[in-house]
Amino acid sequence: MTEAVLLVGGQGTRLRPLTINTPKPMLPVAGVPFTVHQITRAREAGVTRIVLATSYRADVFREFIDVSDLGIEVVIATEDEPLGTGGAIRHALPFLDSGPDEPVLVFNGDVLTGLDIRGLVDHHDSTGSDVTLYLTPVDDPRAYGLVPTDLSGRVTAFLEKPTTDAEIVTHNINAGCYVFRRSVIDSIPGGRPVSVERETFPALLESGALVTGVVDSGYWLDLGTPLAFVQGSRDLVLGAAPSPAVPSHGDLLVLPGAQVSSRAQVHGGTVVGREAFIADGAVVDGCVVFDGARIEAGARVHNSIVGVGAVVGEGCVLHGTVVGDGAVIGAGNELLTGVRVWPGAILAPGTVRFSSDR
Ligand code: GDD
Ligand code: MG
Repeated sequence: MTEAVLLVGGQGTRLRPLTINTPKPMLPVAGVPFTVHQITRAREAGVTRIVLATSYRADVFREFIDVSDLGIEVVIATEDEPLGTGGAIRHALPFLDSGPDEPVLVFNGDVLTGLDIRGLVDHHDSTGSDVTLYLTPVDDPRAYGLVPTDLSGRVTAFLEKPTTDAEIVTHNINAGCYVFRRSVIDSIPGGRPVSVERETFPALLESGALVTGVVDSGYWLDLGTPLAFVQGSRDLVLGAAPSPAVPSHGDLLVLPGAQVSSRAQVHGGTVVGREAFIADGAVVDGCVVFDGARIEAGARVHNSIVGVGAVVGEGCVLHGTVVGDGAVIGAGNELLTGVRVWPGAILAPGTVRFSSDR
């Protein structure tokens, strides 16, 4: 048996307003909640039991898991107050059956990867490590945890979200998947918030524990921001990112009950949600259109997320925009990268225009 803890208790602040009612891992991506991609990948790697470490909107996970059969035992642990990443792993301990020397996988709940999960566990076992970290190289590491290693792969430091250039000592970052010897989880203090990145990993290194890094430069994406979220969805639909929960790939994914006009152009890995509607002449490229949303005639929508039941009016132009659930964007508005429209907001026709003229 291999057990895993999936950290899904964060507030998903950078994805607001989508995460006001739905926690980030429960947002639909390529037709299913994001967490299903991670759970089914873990299942394929031989994980037989998974603890969902929940906090923010734990009810949404519970309702979903109660009615779903994902082919793997899923147990829900809920922190009354968010305990941070390390505190959440410690809080999951009573829900684990693994012996003290057995490996326990831990995943951040918002990363999409092509990692060989089984290979990571095998590496952990063969090196006799206390903790093994999956690392990935990125161009700009500042938003992540930097993890330098020596020639043998031993981790020499852990620098979470560096603030100065001097701290950028490597481009290999913590990719959000670990293997812990279970007894190491026992040693995390209980009952108070702990950051695994800022407290547990530095303390383990200080104590001389064997912490090993495995660098894998395959597919990796943190879906924490709107643009990353649409990219992850697009990559799953197109087949660039692997998931057992996406049975077939194509230029678009149209979910049951959706209506797409034959005179609309929908492509680039767009997902059209259940009962959603795309009108004549609309162009929808690389987007996530949630259930029941409407994109009216002639609208051009790129790299954007259109919330549940939201309406994008005739002739609108949207690039890199998030439209909250139930919002109505009147005809002829132009919204560019970074704009977030709050749920239920109504934008009168022609209110916002983008002009490149100065
Ligand atoms: N249960 C629980 N309780 N989960 C939590 C809590 C908590 O209090 N706080 C955060 N989480 C979960 C989030 O839901 C998410 O799945 C994961 O822990 C990581 O939190 P993020 O908020 O997404 O962190 P990040 O993206 O800024 O940084 C983390 O991930 C990077 C890779 O994507 C760090 O682990 C970095 O070191 C890493 O490079
Ligand atoms: Mg993240």
